[in-house]
Amino acid sequence: MNPPVTMRQIAERARVSIGTVSHVINDTAKVREKLRQRVLEAIRSLGYQPSQLARGLRRNQTSMLVMIIPDVTNPFFPAVVRGVEDVAYSSSLRLVLCNTDNDPRKEISYLNELRAYRPAGWLVIPAADSEIAAHLKSPVPGSPVVCLDRQPKGWSGDVVLVANEAGAYSATRHLLRMGHRQLAVITGPLHLANAVERLNGFKRALAEAKVSIEPDYVQEARFERNSGYHAAKRLLGMLPRPTAIFACNDLMALGVLLAARELGLHCPEELSIVGFDNLDFAEFTAPALTTVCQPGYQLGTTAARLLLERIAGLKQPPQRVVLPTELKIRNSVASPSSAHSAPERKQSGEVAEVC
Ligand code: RIB
Repeated sequence: MNPPVTMRQIAERARVSIGTVSHVINDTAKVREKLRQRVLEAIRSLGYQPSQLARGLRRNQTSMLVMIIPDVTNPFFPAVVRGVEDVAYSSSLRLVLCNTDNDPRKEISYLNELRAYRPAGWLVIPAADSEIAAHLKSPVPGSPVVCLDRQPKGWSGDVVLVANEAGAYSATRHLLRMGHRQLAVITGPLHLANAVERLNGFKRALAEAKVSIEPDYVQEARFERNSGYHAAKRLLGMLPRPTAIFACNDLMALGVLLAARELGLHCPEELSIVGFDNLDFAEFTAPALTTVCQPGYQLGTTAARLLLERIAGLKQPPQRVVLPTELKIRNSVASPSSAHSAPERKQSGEVAEVC
């Protein structure tokens, strides 16, 4: 690899002073157009790459964005990250991705260690059990933070969310409309605001329909397939057995499908299932999963744009952006009164209902 090109070499090639080169590169003073062009030509011909490190030290800030997420192997998060990266890239910012594995200590250690790299901004999807809000309250000066998908407890800064309550409400209404009265729910971790909102939407729909909630029919899990599977095993062992389960994310819905299959219960004839997320696999499960679609990519682009506005110095009160969700009706729900009757849709294709 060739040694990096220095400003001195550029100055010699362009026959100007090092100060002039520096002004052109850093845009710190007006330079006569003729000289500026000579410097730019020298930069091009020598293949000069500005040192991001030196630039960061001078400005006390780099062009790096840090994104902290629970786990990129969870198929919900890649679309969100992709949305962030596309916006960052087009603004010449570069993304560093950190997985917390839902471990709040790892989350805090990333936050503390990466401050030293002077990122331009932060995007945070908090871990379950996150205590990050207390640490975000003393933000790095000039390095704004936007939280997304999950609002950490105690966080009053910018946040981009989806309509969790409305989405869960419409999923539950759909089950009620199909005639279910023994409805169970598998929630996410209930110290996460989005898990509580989804549970509230479920409860609201039941209350409106004057259907009582059997306390044992509310099972808390961890937004993971295995915890959904175990919660479903508990529910499906109860008497009376629920006729429908609303799983508050698709991974847990997949766990419910597996548990039902193991117990020899047919979905949707003997058990109806609705998920939340609309992950790619939801179309390909057997039967195809009815689920609440949340716009993962748009969640990422919206949060990144908000962060860019903050980095640019926009002064406005903290923003709380809520994106709509949409119920995707597929084949995993049928009427409970007619075991072996037609499911909600027999043909391929789907119906969508905006929440
Ligand atoms: O699967 C991950 C879940 O946790 C999603 O539903 C998302 O909203 C997140 O918070």
